[in-house]
Order: sequence, then structure tokens, then C-alpha cells
Amino acid sequence: MSKSQVQIFDTTLRDGEQVPGCKLNTPEKLIIAERLDELGVDIIEAGFPISSPGDFNSVVEIAKLVKNATVCGLTRANKKDIDAAAQALEHAVKPRIHTGIGTSESHIRYKFNSTPEKILERAVEAVSYAKSFVEDIEFYAEDAGRTDNEFLAKVCEEVIKAGATVLNIPDTTGYCLPEEYGAKMTYLKENVKGIENVVLSCHCHNDLGLATANSIAGVQAGARQIECTINGIGERAGNTSLEEVVMIMKQHPYLNLDTNINTQLLYSTSQMVQHHMGILVQPNKAVVGENAFAHSSGIHQDGVIKNRETYEIMDPSDVGVTESSIVLTARSGRAALAYRAKKIGFDLTKLELDKVYPEFLKCADYQKEVEDEDIEKIVKSVRAQLEKIAS
Ligand code: KIV
Ligand code: ZN
Repeated sequence: MSKSQVQIFDTTLRDGEQVPGCKLNTPEKLIIAERLDELGVDIIEAGFPISSPGDFNSVVEIAKLVKNATVCGLTRANKKDIDAAAQALEHAVKPRIHTGIGTSESHIRYKFNSTPEKILERAVEAVSYAKSFVEDIEFYAEDAGRTDNEFLAKVCEEVIKAGATVLNIPDTTGYCLPEEYGAKMTYLKENVKGIENVVLSCHCHNDLGLATANSIAGVQAGARQIECTINGIGERAGNTSLEEVVMIMKQHPYLNLDTNINTQLLYSTSQMVQHHMGILVQPNKAVVGENAFAHSSGIHQDGVIKNRETYEIMDPSDVGVTESSIVLTARSGRAALAYRAKKIGFDLTKLELDKVYPEFLKCADYQKEVEDEDIEKIVKSVRAQLEKIAS
């Protein structure tokens, strides 16, 4: 059976850039946009054009630059925002306007001091107005995660009639459980007329660490777009991490889901975004963290040296990491030490290893990590002693 394609909607330059202190200028955004296009993302959310002249200009320049991906601009549900987005996207080969409004009780009552009927009216008006500029309209129901399913279905049905081509169901506050988020998608698929003609999109935040799990639950329930950011950066605890959802779909063939991402560019893209945004990922970050393919305990090292798959479920080269690393610490065993010594040119005999290993442990207890130079020094000194004894 052929696999279903899941569209990857990257919002690193919009939701990702909302992180305090990581504002990018236009040239930096262009470098990242070009790389995202090369990476194979299907949609690049380039910014929120009405928000500032700088962001407007970035969207204009990204729209001119990007050759393959759809370029998208965010708006609220009002004409001024939509006018700005339409203008900024004028030169895009494939433009998309992303408009929407809060649909949960708390958004309707406290944010807008409004009623469900008025919100529905504004949603429909915004989509119809945006449709007068471009064909591809994505509608977001902000805080859909906490929106009553019946009302959400009604809004979805009406915006489809008004011309929406994509329905974004954001778990804006990162509140949903995977089962609940998947069930929301199922409910919409079963209760919204015309839903078969649009793409359902997952947009999950990571407040409870569930953004990736929720997005996967969403596509398992039939959504065919995931909104995500490189390194999972974004407001508060961040957005769904692009590299995580892409590798989950790649590593679990039974899901029957595929993306257009060139996974071998994931690690270098992560490094590029860390560099420009000034936000470093934690070493244990899945897929792209510095320790994602590093092994330091003796038992694991021994297993990996015998067969990489004993302790690795991904081939590091699939994400652009040259090879797994064997980190030498006081928890490392003889197999790892012999392996590393061989790599730097010392093929140790059993007798040599017996003498080198205790010296290595002394060094490892003293300093946290043992480097190649330390091994070289120890091996040379042990070999000199053995030669002396032998002569
Ligand atoms: O999290 C959210 O609800 C959003 C929308 C503006 C799409 O980012
Ligand atoms: Zn968001």
C-alpha cells in the first residue's frame, strides 16, 4: 500500500520567532527560509506581516526567494491584517493566507468579549475576504484544543463553505492529551460536511511536553499537515519539533505516512537555527541534541560496538550526523577503550589493554571525559614500560 503524504508546515520564522530574545533580521530569515526550502518543507510560514514593517519586509523577500514551498503569512480575522498579508505575498509562487480567530469559551468571552455567533460571522468574513486575494486559505481556530467540539465543527463547516482549503486545529495552550487530540480530529472528520475536500492540520504546543505525541495522534486520526518548528522552538515551552515528527514517521513504516523532508539535512539545519536564534538545544534533545547518538556507559558501548542497532533506533547518517560517538568516561568499559584506541592508531594487545585500562580509569575519575590525547599519552607510556621490562 502506498504511503500517505503528510505536509510539513514550518513555522520557525513565525511561531518560533515569538520566543523572547530570538528576533531575526531579514537577511537571517532569508538564510533560514532558503535552507527550509532545501530541506523540503511544504509550507513556510514566513511571518505576521501586519505586526511590524520589518516582518512585512521579511515576508516580501521570502516570497520572492522561495522557489518550491508555499509561502504563508499569518493574520487575525480582520481586513487590515489580510490586506497586509496579501500585499506581502504578492510575489510568492505559491501564496497562502493563514487567518483565524479564537473559538474557545475563554477566548470568546474574555479575549473578544463576544458571542459564539459573532465569532462565527467574523471567521467566515475573514476567510471570504482572504479568498478574494489568493486561492489557498488556511483557517486557524485558536485554542481549538479547549474548544467545544460541536461549536468547532460548526465553525469548520462554515469556513469550508467560505473557501478555506486547510483547517488548522491548534492546541494553543498545549493542554490536550494525545488521545483527546486524535479524537478531536476524528470528530471533525465525522461531523463536518465538506471536510474531505480540505486538509486538516495539527498545530500543537509543548506546555506539557506532548506536542510531538499530539501531532502524531492527529495524523494517525487523519490530519495530513503538521505545523512545527526546527528544534521545537516557540512560545513558552515551544511548538512541535519538526525533526521529531519527521523521524517518527520515517522510523515507523506501519504508520504508512511519509514526508518530503530530506532528513539528512536535519542536523545541520538544527545547528543553523541554533546559531542564528541564539537558542541552544539541550544535549539530550531527541534527534538533534549533542548526546542523541552518544554512548557513555560500558554496557551500552559494548553493545553498540558489536552492533549499532543494539542501542540505536535511528542511523545517525539519516539525520546528517556522521557517526555515533563513544564517549569515554569512568563508566566506560574495556571494549570502548580498545575501540577508541584503535580508531586513533593503537591496536592494543590483551596485555597492553590490561595495563592501559587501570590508567585510563584513573584519568577518567580525575577528569570527566577522556580525550584522544589522553589515550595516546597513556598508551605510549604503558608501551614504553612494557618495552623496558622486555629488554
Ligand atoms: O498556537 C496558535 O494557536 C497559533 C495560531 C495563531 C495559529 O499559533
Ligand atoms: Zn502556535
